[in-house]
Amino acid sequence: MKIFTLFVFLMAAPVGASAVDSGVATTPPMGWNSWNHFACKVTANDVRSAADAIASNGMKDAGYTYVNIDDCWQGTRDERGRIRPNQKFPDMKALVDYVHAKGLKIGIYSSPGPKTCAGYEGSYGHEEQDAQQYIDWGFDYLKYDWCSAEKVYQRSQMQEVYNKMHDALARTGRPIVFSLCQYGFARVWQWGTAVGGNLWRTTGDISDHFDRMSVIGFDQNGLESFAGPGHWNDPDMLEVGNGGMNHDEYTTHMSLWVLLAAPLLAGNDLAKMTPETLDLLTNKEVIAVDQDAKGVQGRRVAQEGPLEVWAKPLADGGIAVGLFNRGESANPVTIRFQDIGMQGAVKVRNLWMHKDLGSFNGSYTTEIPRHGAVLIKIQ
Ligand code: GLA
Repeated sequence: MKIFTLFVFLMAAPVGASAVDSGVATTPPMGWNSWNHFACKVTANDVRSAADAIASNGMKDAGYTYVNIDDCWQGTRDERGRIRPNQKFPDMKALVDYVHAKGLKIGIYSSPGPKTCAGYEGSYGHEEQDAQQYIDWGFDYLKYDWCSAEKVYQRSQMQEVYNKMHDALARTGRPIVFSLCQYGFARVWQWGTAVGGNLWRTTGDISDHFDRMSVIGFDQNGLESFAGPGHWNDPDMLEVGNGGMNHDEYTTHMSLWVLLAAPLLAGNDLAKMTPETLDLLTNKEVIAVDQDAKGVQGRRVAQEGPLEVWAKPLADGGIAVGLFNRGESANPVTIRFQDIGMQGAVKVRNLWMHKDLGSFNGSYTTEIPRHGAVLIKIQ
């Protein structure tokens, strides 16, 4: 019986599947990452506070699961080469246990180079040891950031470099989300899955400004065929609530990221956010677009200057549609149903507002504020 079960499992496993990618990230990973707000100042207490917030403020219910430590946790290696955390992280195992006890998962960060981007100890020459250490501590997610690997490897070696860590993780026998971060070089979307990546950054770093966020987000068009359950394009972490954009701009940020089936890693200080920020992060109908079981990344279906219409087909036959105004003044934006292959009368629902708008023929038009967005579902 057991042999039969194993046989069925092996037959069902997709080509290239391994212990690393089996069963994780079937929908885009959701959680929090320390970098966008705390950067190198992050401490174990900040991570605990983030876990406390997620577990108690509705984010966990909305699907946020991973509490991810980014750069700057590393100390020196001991005489046997084992990586030790720095004094800001006095007891890594206790921190992992704390986050797990909240029913959440926890992530860690390293680089294949000798140093991380912020100059901390990388995994170069210690890949096996580090993979085992992360697993021994109990981590569930690794972000592996190219950084100084640029100095010791050729870009043409990226695949083998990422594969080395993938193999080291696979050998531990524990499933772990493997997040590739090399800023979209070398068309990573074409080989990210083959090296065990569950997500891969497609761009350089986001910042908390409308111009940067929108260039990154709207430039994702064309990558949709590379995303799917277990393997996602990653246009970088969220800036919602960090203060550099207004409400309409953060609405565009969230609406676009969910249409892109992007990982949703909040990047703000969860312990101090406003109710308005929490609402932006936890709107269930909006999140459902991102986490939809069909796992399709949306694409642009129409554009008129700064006005864009994006669509993402959903598992229930509906289509999520984003109406965007990247322009400097309010504008009406129209979705023509023929652009998404729909004819006759269709039902339109506003997802942010949880409101049925009625039945429409041919098209639907609504006024969108400067830098704003409206997210609707069409059925
Ligand atoms: C790079 C990554 C960021 C962050 C920093 C940390 O810039 O792209 O997401 O991890 O390194 O140093």
